[in-house]
Amino acid sequence: MKFFVDTADTDAIAELNDLGMVDGVTTNPSLILKAGRDILEVTKEICEMVAGPVSAEVVATEADAMIAEGRKLARIAPNIAVKVPLTWDGLKACKTLTDEGSMVNVTLCFSANQALLAAKAGATFISPFIGRLDDINLDGMELIADIRTIYDNYDFQTEILAASIRSPNHVLDAARIGADVATVPPGVLKKLADHPLTEKGLETFLSDWAKTGQKIL
Ligand code: G3P
Repeated sequence: MKFFVDTADTDAIAELNDLGMVDGVTTNPSLILKAGRDILEVTKEICEMVAGPVSAEVVATEADAMIAEGRKLARIAPNIAVKVPLTWDGLKACKTLTDEGSMVNVTLCFSANQALLAAKAGATFISPFIGRLDDINLDGMELIADIRTIYDNYDFQTEILAASIRSPNHVLDAARIGADVATVPPGVLKKLADHPLTEKGLETFLSDWAKTGQKIL
């Protein structure tokens, strides 16, 4: 499974990138707001830091304007994936931009039929939002499983990018189902390393080691 980091915080990206954990980055207008940075400037910085796809989202709602914004975003760097919403206009923009050779991430996907349309429109990535479905008492993971089945049935090459991930269990379940990518907030990604038995075991080892009176260095 590939890990994308779901943030526009360049310090957080740099820290995880140094560990080799970052296969790509996703941003959206809310994350740009949170970062408090100019979209073109921060996206360029992220693209220079990370070799993999960096999603940058259009904000127009009409296809022609989305395409114009997408072209401008795509010019930032070769590793830009233009992010468009899953609307008819977004699907039109997806088709045009992918035909032009850009990577396109179709976002705000909440149903398997929407994911089917995105694949037909040539999307590079489909972003089903797990957490937001769970928030309204639906099953985000069931959506990931349905999309996996449908894409495998017809050999669609669109990658399933599990998004709106809120917990380590979301990552685990998406990996079990076979999502191609999980885009994970830095805080959740770090939590994947936590286990109380690891902490407890380390405490015991260190206290026993102190009793030996030895040093390695
Ligand atoms: O990748 C989409 C993601 O940023 C949405 O997450 O937590 O705002 O639903 P959330």
